[in-house]
Amino acid sequence: EKERTLALIKPDGICGNFANQIKQVISQSGFVIIHEMMVQLDVRNATLFYSEHSAKSFFPNLVEYMTSGPVVVMVIEKTNAIADWRALIGPTDAGKAKVSHPNSIRAMCGSNSERNCVHGSDSPQSAAREISFFFGEISPGIMEHDE
Ligand code: CMP
Repeated sequence: EKERTLALIKPDGICGNFANQIKQVISQSGFVIIHEMMVQLDVRNATLFYSEHSAKSFFPNLVEYMTSGPVVVMVIEKTNAIADWRALIGPTDAGKAKVSHPNSIRAMCGSNSERNCVHGSDSPQSAAREISFFFGEISPGIMEHDE
């Protein structure tokens, strides 16, 4: 059965010109890109998106990084999309990924545990929340931001 997940290319991915390469890998891996948009996150939206990490020591740096430039958000679809996209992007720490998962997207395009180039939803619940955050009509996320 088909499943949808949120794929996000972070500012280092856009800045490093990896967006087209990443989208090629997405398509070649059997995903269909259902929705796509480029957005500039502000502090409020980045804080909301990553609210589950708000108590972590790296959180302020994460918000600064995620607001440092535009990101590309996509809804991608295939059978088993959530787990398969997480497998394709590889471990969080891109430095370690270069050793353990050299063919992963983070190994190819990321730098370290923070600047890891891409994001993927980690569960069906996260996928629903994150898709709705960016693409939902009634969500507490970016679509309601009316300043
Ligand atoms: P992501 O999969 O988008 O989920 C949370 C993000 O926080 C993660 O990718 C990294 O960008 C960042 N992150 C996770 N762990 C660390 C860490 N130890 N140090 C700095 N940033 C981190």
